[in-house]
Parts: sequence; C-alpha cells; structure tokens
Amino acid sequence: MAIIFNEKAKTFTLNTKHTSYQMKIGNLDYLLHLYYGPSIPDEDVSWQIMQYDRGFSGNPYESRNARTFSLDAQPQEYSTQQQGDFRAASIEVINSDGSYSFHGKAVDYRLTKGKYKLDTLPCVFAREEDTADTLEVTLLDQVSQVKVILLFGVFQEADIITRAVKVVNGGDRPIHLAKVMSLCLDFLNGSDFDLVSLPGRYGQERQVERQHMTHHIHNIGSVRGSSSHQQNPFVILCGRETTEDCGRCYGFSLMYSGNFLAEAELDQYDQLRLGMGINPKQFLYELKPGEIFEGPEVVMAFTNSGFTGLSHLYHDFYRTNLCRSKFVSQVERPVLINSWEAAFMDFDDVKLVEIAKAAKNMGVDLFVMDDGWFGKRDDDNSGLGDWVVNESKIKCGLHKLVEQINDLDMKFGIWFEPEMVSEDSDLYRAHPDWAMEIPGRHAVRSRNQIALDLSRRDVQDYLIKSVNTILDDANIYYVKWDINRSLTDIWSNDLPAEKQGEVYHRYILGLYRVMDAIILTHPDILFEGCSGGGGRFDAAMLHYYPQYWVSDNNNPIDRLKLHYGTSFVYPTCTMGAHISDSGRFVPLETKAVVAMCGTFGYELDATHLTEKEQKICMEQSRLFRKYYHITFKGDFYRLTNPFEMGNMTAWQHVTKDKRESLVSVVVTNLTCNGPQEYVKPKGLEPSARYSINGSEETRSGAALMNAGIPINREVPEYSAFQFYLVRED
Ligand code: GLA
Repeated sequence: MAIIFNEKAKTFTLNTKHTSYQMKIGNLDYLLHLYYGPSIPDEDVSWQIMQYDRGFSGNPYESRNARTFSLDAQPQEYSTQQQGDFRAASIEVINSDGSYSFHGKAVDYRLTKGKYKLDTLPCVFAREEDTADTLEVTLLDQVSQVKVILLFGVFQEADIITRAVKVVNGGDRPIHLAKVMSLCLDFLNGSDFDLVSLPGRYGQERQVERQHMTHHIHNIGSVRGSSSHQQNPFVILCGRETTEDCGRCYGFSLMYSGNFLAEAELDQYDQLRLGMGINPKQFLYELKPGEIFEGPEVVMAFTNSGFTGLSHLYHDFYRTNLCRSKFVSQVERPVLINSWEAAFMDFDDVKLVEIAKAAKNMGVDLFVMDDGWFGKRDDDNSGLGDWVVNESKIKCGLHKLVEQINDLDMKFGIWFEPEMVSEDSDLYRAHPDWAMEIPGRHAVRSRNQIALDLSRRDVQDYLIKSVNTILDDANIYYVKWDINRSLTDIWSNDLPAEKQGEVYHRYILGLYRVMDAIILTHPDILFEGCSGGGGRFDAAMLHYYPQYWVSDNNNPIDRLKLHYGTSFVYPTCTMGAHISDSGRFVPLETKAVVAMCGTFGYELDATHLTEKEQKICMEQSRLFRKYYHITFKGDFYRLTNPFEMGNMTAWQHVTKDKRESLVSVVVTNLTCNGPQEYVKPKGLEPSARYSINGSEETRSGAALMNAGIPINREVPEYSAFQFYLVRED
C-alpha cells in the first residue's frame, strides 16, 4: 500500500515512486498539511511548523490561552471558514441558521485498495496493471454536522496523486455551498515560487505565462461557463530557478470543463496557498439533509526535472489513465480531411464527394462533413438544434452519401454542436423555454446562437436521442463535437429562483451525462472535441475524446506556439492539427511537419490542389504513418521556446526504448549571412550510435545531444527539417 498511517504520529504519508505527500491529524484534530515533494521516509515532519504569537491572527477557542496557535499560520489540508484563517478559503458554507462557518476537524479516515470514483464527474482510472490506493479523510463540523470528505488517489508508478472532495450535509436542515475548492495545498514558504499558466484567446489558445509570486492572490480562472480559450484549468508552481530541463515543478490539472478557479496566495508570512476547484462566481448550491456534493478531481504531479519532466509525467498518465477510447492505443488514428475550410456551409452531396475523391490522392482515410448538413443551415443564423439531415443539400440522403465515401475506401465523419440552438430552428420554436434566456430579457448574442439549458433532464434526453439517432443510422466512424460560444444569461426555467446559483454547475453535470450516453455507448466511433478551436481543451474533455482541436488558427507558424503551450500538460497525440491554406508563404512540407506534432489531417479544398501538391500530401500522409509510433507513444521534448526570439523552432519525439527519434525543425526567420545554428536533441542513449535519415554514417547519442545537428541556413523561407534517428543495434 502506497499510503502509510502512522498511529503514533497520526501522519498519513502518500508515496509514489519519486514523491511523498504528508498530512497529520495535529493539534486539536485539525488536519495539517506537512509536505509534498521528493520522496522522504515515513517520518513526521511536523517539526517544520514553528508557532509564534501572530498578531491579528486569531486562535481557535479550544486553544484557550495559547496565543501561538493560529490557523492563519498553520498549513492546512483543507482550510476552515471563520476560524481565524484569513487566507483564500477552501469552502464557504451558509448554514441553515444563516451563519457562514465551517469548522472541520478530522474524525475518521479510510484506506482502500484501488482508485476512488466520483458519481457525477469524470475522473482518471486505474488499469489492472496499476498500483493505486485511496485515502479518505473525513472532516466534520460538530455544530452543523456538515462533513467534508477529502479523497486522495495515489498512483505509485506514475508519480501521480489525485485529489477530490465530497461535501455531505449530515444536518437536518438544508445548507448552501457558496464555494467548494477541490484542492488546498499550503507551502510553509513560497516566496521563491513562480506560477505558470496557459492564458490565451480565440485563435491563440494556451500561450505560456510565468509570474513571480508576490503578496496577493493570483487568480487564474474562467467564468465563461466553460474552461475557455482565455485560461486553462492547469497551473504549475515551480521554483524561480526552474528551467525546461531541471528544477522543482508542481503541476495541477483540474478535471472540469466549466467555470474554474486556481488561486495562488502568497500571504503575510510568505506562506503559499494554492486552491483549485469550481469558480465560486454565481455559485450557490443547496444541499438538503443527506445530500452529497462532489467537487472535481485535481491531478497533481511533482518532479525535480523541470517542465519537461512534468510534461512527461502528465503525457504518460493522460495517455493511459484518462480516456478509455480504443483510439487511444488499440486503433491508429486516421488521416482525415475536414470540409470546413474547403466549403464552409456552401456544399451539397456532389461537392463533398468530389473533395473526398481528390483527397483519396493525398493518402486520406477519413472524410469529415463539418457544419451545414442539418436543419435549415446555410449560415450561422439558423438550424442549430435540428439534428436531421437537410436533404436539399444532401440530396442523396445520408446513407447514400456515406456509402459513396465508403466506396472510395474512406471512412465517414460528421460534425455536431449539440449544446446550442438557433432562434430560427424548429427546436427553438417548439421549446423556447429550453434556451438559456433570463425571463423578460434578451439573451446576449454570440455567433447568432443561444446555449441550450443542459441542466434540464428533458434537454439532455432530447440531445441523447437526436444525436444517437444519426449515429446509429449511418456508418459513422468519427464525430467532431463543437461548442461555439461562451455561456451568458445563466438561467434555467426548470429551477426555482433560489436555485439559479446551481445552473452553471448543473449545465456541466448535464453535459457529462449527455456525453456518457452518446460517447461511451459508441466505443467504435472516434470522437474529437472542439470549441471554436481549443476553447474547452481540458482534462475532463479528454476523458471522453482522445483528441481535441487545438485552435481554429491553422497558420503553421502560430501553431508552433499553440503546440508548445498545449504540450505543457496535454500529450501531443491529443492535439488536433491540420494542414490548411493558412500560411501562404509556408511550404506544404513545413505545414505537414507542424501537423505531425498532432493528429495530422487536412482542412482545405482538395480539388484545388495541383497533382504535384497532391503527391506531396500523399508522401506526408505516408510519413505521418511511418512516424506514428514515435509521435503517438514516445516522449516529447520542446527543444526551443517559440516565444523567445530565435530563428527556428524545434521539438522532438523519442520512443520509450530510445531506439528511434524524430527531430522536427521549422526555420521561422532567415538572417542574411547569419551564424550557423544547431539543434540539440534530448533523451537519446549517450553511448549508442544513431543514423540520421538513413545515412550510413552514425553519430553517438552523446555527440548529437551535446554538439547538436547543424541546420542548413541556405534554405527558402519557412523551410522545415525532420531528422529521423535510428539507433544501431
Ligand atoms: C468552429 C470550429 C470549426 C468549424 C466551425 C463550424 O469554429 O472550430 O472548426 O467546425 O465551428 O461552424
């Protein structure tokens, strides 16, 4: 068992292969956080906690005259409310008597083999070959009888610890939750920490930002109803000294697709608290007696090996313990072509088949019909919600269209945006009350569509039925599931006034129910997530979809940054990446090299390509398949940082056995008569010898990694190189 309870010291020590995490039932039964970092023995490290009389930091009543014990200066595992701790709170309970208080003390614990599950929310799972254990610690407020159950999952080999929380109303009257964080992690001294986050915007998702901790609360979060383009539910706390290759790094990845908050507070004594969970904005959840509220899971990792070490931990774990789709590892992902940038909504069956026929010459396996095939959908003013084939466009009917594509020996894929409705749709005319609109007010317009109220069971059932009807009716191999606006006008006609503070979260719960009923019931379909590009690219979504569209921005030079940022936590095999017309001066080969950093495909009108261009594409599709086992299963290295001034961007994949590697380089800037530049691969076997692109001559791993490979600078603008390294056996 990876979890040790020391009866005498009352410490819980959670051990993974290289890390330890410790907490203690301490003074007055408060659950104190003691340690998270490199492995330590089973030793009570509470000696680190010094106690002084801290002015203006109150003392719990039971500590009597001991003025040195204040919760404001104690590292807590889950902070109390109104007990003298003035830092960012883990929980805010409004009790039935109107008081705002939660005074949780450890009353019970349970150790079990295996990984806990949540009933209402997606979470990571343990495979048969994993050693995973669970610890549950119960904190009880004796007065209100409100319980907080802290859940810890320990994945020993993977070096991963997960946390989640359940709040139980054990009292006999309803209470309200105004804030429930899933994680509270206190560091006794955090003044030398940096916070790394992935902010962005539409078309420029997950750029990387690093800030020093200063004495205030640094909030990273979303209030857009989804995890958003603007921030991502993933943050890193690292040492000031941490670099790509070395230094302390803690990662926190929240499995939630709605409003989230990560709050990092450096307090008056340089203590650092990180909280993470559902964003408390417009959140007020009623909990009746006996009811349970679940907070989403946080997946944590620690390494001393810098950002690369941290990324490797997440990539490995998320490739195996997050999504159960057979497309994760059993079945190879197809090379696809998507109709969107080729035809937008202006197509009919004949045009689609023509594109597919041309794509056949490019090595494409799967044809995807994007937006515009259903209802009355000729532009973005109408049709959403009516998931029936528009036979004035698909004149031959869906069956026949799929048949024609299959006859080309290609698979067929289709686009949906289930969560939305157009005012000009049969669905809206029949059920205006299903749309998210505040009574008496006009809903905010965004892409001319309104969100459906997914907190409603009848809306969920309608979506499950209408989408499944299409999926079960034709031979569909792939689905792109889109959502194209942020939520506003948060309101449900199905809930009373006093429960409107539950709508944001109930929407997400409803969404997961719909996804369970559509995605998990179609294990043979490859699902790809999308939100106007990468607007809801988060770990919870990757529980359902093995891949997610990174961005609507297909410019290959911008993509270098997009892939770089996304790769901090999400494996490159989850990153939807296509070759499109965007990037006029960038050669097709370079676009392909960039798309091979992800799932690879095309987003253009194949009928417009010359025979020569189609041949280039055919060759690139072949290379994608050739390198598939390296790029989908190997270790990923960011060799340069595209946010820094430089003349090239380079990255690398290495197979786990270090036998093969693919080094990719894009020249982003040509300088006249410039210095010679080198790319230095990583992760090779120093003493082994490697051939490069089939050369007879070999070079040692050590020389390649330390001296580097010279990059030819006498090349056209935006040239790319791929160096395929194979170890001599
Ligand atoms: C979003 C997606 C695009 C495309 C359009 C269709 O913007 O990101 O790829 O599917 O919707 O409307």
